[in-house]
Amino acid sequence: MSSVIDILDLSTEEIEELISVACDIIENPDKYAEKCKRKKLATLFFEPSTRTRLSFEAAMYELGGNVIGFSAANNSSAAKGESVSDTVRTVSCYADIIAMRHPKEGAPLVASMATDIPIINAGDGGHNHPTQTLADLLTIYREKGSFENLTVGLCGDLKFGRTVHSLINALSRYSGIKFVLISPEELKLPDYVTNNVIIKNNIPYEVTTDLIASMPKLDILYMTRVQRERFFNEQDYIRLKDSYILTPDKLSEAKADLSIMHPLPRVNEISVAVDKDPRACYFKQVLNGKYIRMALILKLLGVE
Ligand code: NCD
Repeated sequence: MSSVIDILDLSTEEIEELISVACDIIENPDKYAEKCKRKKLATLFFEPSTRTRLSFEAAMYELGGNVIGFSAANNSSAAKGESVSDTVRTVSCYADIIAMRHPKEGAPLVASMATDIPIINAGDGGHNHPTQTLADLLTIYREKGSFENLTVGLCGDLKFGRTVHSLINALSRYSGIKFVLISPEELKLPDYVTNNVIIKNNIPYEVTTDLIASMPKLDILYMTRVQRERFFNEQDYIRLKDSYILTPDKLSEAKADLSIMHPLPRVNEISVAVDKDPRACYFKQVLNGKYIRMALILKLLGVE
């Protein structure tokens, strides 16, 4: 395996191996401090990012490697009309591995065809975000100890939320998973995900608009932001943006061991009052994102 474009590019065994390496990094960080000495990661971000880009960069520095890159399309020759393929061929002359985020679905796949060095999809449009899913999986593993027999509620923008699409793909491979898909009608999970992933794998699922009624059955509640940048029309965004706001009172019927997750950034979907709840895991996801990206860089660079 040379690139990670889709979470399904990794087998369940490979995901387990990444999780076990990430757990070892957490226990023994010094062991890894020089593993990527003289290696370079390029972060090519054609779209805004805080966590994904900075966690990739922190991950490479903590492995003893170096980082080059750009954080906006207008800081690169994309602004002059250069193609993704040419940009990637160029960067391959300078770096050993590339993490790339792009507003166009499929751009990282195109990039992977233009080079022999590993490409990691750091988010492509409303499509996929496999490394956020790895961060989510490490968090679920550390909170729950396994990926089996979990009822997972996904709430908010299930249409454009790429982290949701990748997470559903990943969890669909485990037994005893149930999904509760909570969204306004207009932001429902795309049919291609429902049909090709959930139905194809015979996974029990419910579609609802009602977060509070769903709460008591959930082991995991994965909240998401309404993805403003993917809307055609600002009026629709304004109408839908506050469809769900999680507040402490809405958690009154939730399980005592619920895990509340969110890929962040949060806009208004989770009130800050929820942050004090011991069930809130979203800042744990942030930290886990760095460790799992360290494990992924090691794997893709073939470092022992
Ligand atoms: C997510 C993304 O970029 O898709 N953020 C992230 O990488 N943690 C979620 C979002 O932007 O809403």
